[in-house]
Amino acid sequence: MKHIIRVCTCTGCQANGSLEVFEGLCRAVSGRKKECEGKGIEIEVKETGCTGLSETVPNVLVEPSGILYVNVNEDKAERIVDSVINNYVIDEMLFELDGKKYGKLTDVPFFALQERVLLARCGYTTPLSLSDYIESGGFEGLKAAVSMKQDEIIDILKRAKLRGRGGAGFLTGIKWRFLKNAKGNEKFLICNADEGDPGAFMDRSLLESDPFAVLEGMLIGAYATGATRSFIYIREEYPLAIDKVKTAIDILKENGYLGNNVLEKFSFDIEIRKGAGAFVCGEETALMNSVEGKRGQPRIKPPFPAERGIFGKPTNINNVKTYAFVPLILRNGPEWFLDKGNGKSSGGTLLICLTGKIRLNGVVEVKMGTALRKVIYDIGGGLKSGKRLKGVQTGGPSGGCIPEALIDTEIDYESMQELGSIIGSGGIICIDEDDSIIDLCIFFLDFLEKESCGQCTPCREGIIQMKDLIIKIKERKASEQDIAMLEKLAVYVRDNSLCGLGQTSPNVVLSSLKYFRDEFERRISGKPVFKINEKCTGCHLCFLKCPVKAINGSPKEIHEIIQEKCIGCGICYDVCKFQAIDKE
Ligand SMILES: Cc1cc2nc3c(=O)[nH]c(=O)nc-3n(C[C@H](O)[C@H](O)[C@H](O)COP(=O)(O)O)c2cc1C
Ligand code: SF4
Ligand code: SF4
Ligand code: SF4
Ligand code: FES
Repeated sequence: MKHIIRVCTCTGCQANGSLEVFEGLCRAVSGRKKECEGKGIEIEVKETGCTGLSETVPNVLVEPSGILYVNVNEDKAERIVDSVINNYVIDEMLFELDGKKYGKLTDVPFFALQERVLLARCGYTTPLSLSDYIESGGFEGLKAAVSMKQDEIIDILKRAKLRGRGGAGFLTGIKWRFLKNAKGNEKFLICNADEGDPGAFMDRSLLESDPFAVLEGMLIGAYATGATRSFIYIREEYPLAIDKVKTAIDILKENGYLGNNVLEKFSFDIEIRKGAGAFVCGEETALMNSVEGKRGQPRIKPPFPAERGIFGKPTNINNVKTYAFVPLILRNGPEWFLDKGNGKSSGGTLLICLTGKIRLNGVVEVKMGTALRKVIYDIGGGLKSGKRLKGVQTGGPSGGCIPEALIDTEIDYESMQELGSIIGSGGIICIDEDDSIIDLCIFFLDFLEKESCGQCTPCREGIIQMKDLIIKIKERKASEQDIAMLEKLAVYVRDNSLCGLGQTSPNVVLSSLKYFRDEFERRISGKPVFKINEKCTGCHLCFLKCPVKAINGSPKEIHEIIQEKCIGCGICYDVCKFQAIDKE
């Protein structure tokens, strides 16, 4: 019988020693070769892509049993091989949640409750094996596409309601039609793999785990639009993704899937361009400037890229996930894709990066329209701290904060927008009752201040001013008027900035003011300040109850309030039984 031991060698697992695990497994298998032969067992150790369960890296999957081993290290390699030879399961290496152990990967709720279509190969195939790719349906989409007319392909994408997954959510079919109809002897495609949002790593994961799928989507795009050249723009911080895509391009060229006369129908070339890690270079026109060797600043639109894009030529740009969906839609049909949505403006699934205080952080895939609650609690396992969820921040620096009271909301473009946030590229950061919304706003504004290209005043100056006003509020130096000014300024920056960075920068502020206003108001000057006096017995109760950990002190010693952290909620004042807290 043949067994395969699959070891994830993507960035997260590698950083935690999966290459050593891989080597250890190979050594253990070759050391027991004779024994295996005697028993009629064949064991192969293979590299695979990211399962998405970042919390327990390195992850190892044994097939055909389907057993998942988590937090594996080199020392455990011998035992894994022994368990395969002698047909047993290593209990203490299984995934465990709430006291329950799970043997098979597919039984773990984190996986069982997902809808994995983009991630279907991730963890199950070897990313750079062309035969694995083809055996799992690779190039069926491309083959179907080249048997159609260009307009038929574009119509299928429109019927599938594929909206771009890079943030803006524009319909891909419409964009492709613009490029197809554009006049010009040379047309370009760009794949946007800049992924600059803090806490987002799904594009990297997909490129490392299933690079051929993204390239196949680009090939279909080239055939459907008439583009002959393209660039994949990947940030330099993703060296493994860059290496894998480079090798994947070479493999496709060697096998006639890229270059001249692909499938005897069209010619197409893909080049990699590395980004230096500027968030603004993810904006499509800044990205084009960057590829051209210019400063990464957004251009004024119109003209739009389909008319005058890179090097002044008609261009279409899509996100990594958008391209990866295309072969699946061509293979399975638009209805299949639509069926994965919730009947609103977009079909398909959604890749989400779960981070923050979540118990199981990682990359997950769910149907469009899945409730936030299901993603956070059923798939993500709830909060690590066991504390109350305060809310979630969705969509990265361009997104907003949503309070716990609204986590039954379905994740789709319309619902997120109604709440004042966005899906963006799919990041969800969970925060608990210990986290300060004010600090979260400062974090994102600080990020955007540094990442703003600076060419237009509302964004360049407005973000700094918003941040300064929030710091003033945090330090209890602000008045009611400052909150009103903050709101006015946020609307001004939103309405007057040139590109999406500035236009969306106030989302975090406006949504926080909408849902967590009391946290801001409690800090404005004139509100009570609490101080601990000498009657303090060190009973420690206030320390335990303070929601923002603003009290210092060890049991039986006089405690102290850290005024910069205190949000003035008065809980300590209410719980102290010794009149040891003064309200000023
Ligand atoms: C500041 C900023 C950063 C962006 N970063 C990215 C990014 O990292 N990846 C991405 O695909 N789109 C990013 N976008 C959106 C792109 O401008 C563009 O809309 C997208 O690449 C189009 O692809 P899609 O239609 O497949 O979504 C960013 C936009 C802005 C304003
Ligand atoms: S909005 Fe900000 S990032 Fe965009 S062009 Fe203006 S200054 Fe640059
Ligand atoms: S609850 Fe009162 S007595 Fe107890 S530690 Fe706090 S201030 Fe001191
Ligand atoms: S008032 Fe007391 S309980 Fe509330 S944040 Fe300040 S120190 Fe903490
Ligand atoms: S990086 Fe290995 S499972 Fe995600």
